[in-house]
Amino acid sequence: MNLEEARKKLESAGQEHALRYYDELNDGEKKALLDQIGSLDFSPIHYVHDRAELPKRGKITPLNFMSLDEIASKRDEFEKTGLEAIRQGKVGAVLLAGGMGTRLGSDNPKCMYDIGITKHVYIMERLIRNLMDVVDQAGVAVPLFIMTSEKNHDATVRFMNGHDFFGYDRSRVWFFKQDMAPATDYNGKVYMEAKDRIASSPNGNGGWFSSMQKAGLIEKLHELGIEWLNCFAVDNVLQRIADPVFVGATIASGCATGAKVVRKVAKDEKVGAMCLEDGKPSIVEYYDMTPELMDAVNEKGEPAYAGGVILNYLFREKDLEKVINEKLTLHIVEKKIPYMDEAGVFHKPDKPNGYKFETLILDMIHEMDTCLPFEVARDHEFAPIKNKTGVDSVESAQELCRKNGIEL
Ligand code: UTP
Repeated sequence: MNLEEARKKLESAGQEHALRYYDELNDGEKKALLDQIGSLDFSPIHYVHDRAELPKRGKITPLNFMSLDEIASKRDEFEKTGLEAIRQGKVGAVLLAGGMGTRLGSDNPKCMYDIGITKHVYIMERLIRNLMDVVDQAGVAVPLFIMTSEKNHDATVRFMNGHDFFGYDRSRVWFFKQDMAPATDYNGKVYMEAKDRIASSPNGNGGWFSSMQKAGLIEKLHELGIEWLNCFAVDNVLQRIADPVFVGATIASGCATGAKVVRKVAKDEKVGAMCLEDGKPSIVEYYDMTPELMDAVNEKGEPAYAGGVILNYLFREKDLEKVINEKLTLHIVEKKIPYMDEAGVFHKPDKPNGYKFETLILDMIHEMDTCLPFEVARDHEFAPIKNKTGVDSVESAQELCRKNGIEL
């Protein structure tokens, strides 16, 4: 993009200040800034002032989940179906590792975090081990796609190479990068990270499939014959990945998607809950749970919105292709954004100072016609690491690993 085009693009988004230092830059820096302006989408920023234009929630009604008891009674049948699909190469896994992990506060990508106590045990290592359990059982390596962002791609790839992919067959691993979104102050003006760089951050985990498309990986999915994709978060060190029972249950249900859920421990627990929204599967965020929803009960007299999602979803690939161009709900999230002030001094704030713009994978569930919520045992499959200490932390995950006999 040349200077004139960049100026026009910024003007129409009210962000002309991004060129404030342009004349001070050398040729390489000028090019880098123009390229970045060319690649960023500024269109979501106006919603900071026009939030009323964001789509409203539809009517929320319950969607029951398949309980642990029901799963146990059909376990063998589900496992057989799932293993067959995995052995036929129909199941791929997608690790969403593009996030910034700001709450954990490490400078390295989250997957590199060492949760070991007596030895090194990296988060990525635990995920690969979990996937290897299935690979060993099925006798074939599950294709693994790893989403990174411009901020952590090189470090992640170097780390995997440096550790020989933790024993995983590297010819069955593909990396792809997600897009970035500009980050703004509370007035919707982009922050500068440096004189030649607008502050930007990964644009949420909702763009994973379109990023796969941009990276040319849909052809790869076709070539490999993949029909199902299991997407999972980087931070749950206990989760089962490409779990044959989950895969088999979803296939047997005839649903287009499956979502692993845990039974919520409290009606106001801070996890999204499975539901129907205007008759289609959806997830109601904890901050959207009204007192009526919290107290609602199903036909068995149990809480009606008790299935908390754990960011482990199975999608039927051909259904993803149908909705790839649909616009997902935009989430404007308050975050800490490192920035350079007008005097050219760089700051790393310790409290939120502006907005990031994200779309979320959970909103993709609503694009699908059907979903099987599938219960998993919380103590065995849910150990997310969001913080260093306290709830959902390194400490709580270490304790859960210990309970599950995992040496750290
Ligand atoms: P989180 O919601 O925990 O976000 O991501 P985060 O950015 O990693 O962490 P904080 O909020 O800054 O502390 C849930 C999952 O989605 C991935 C993360 O890597 C994690 O696996 N993710 C998140 C992406 O892949 N891309 C994103 O843009 C955001």
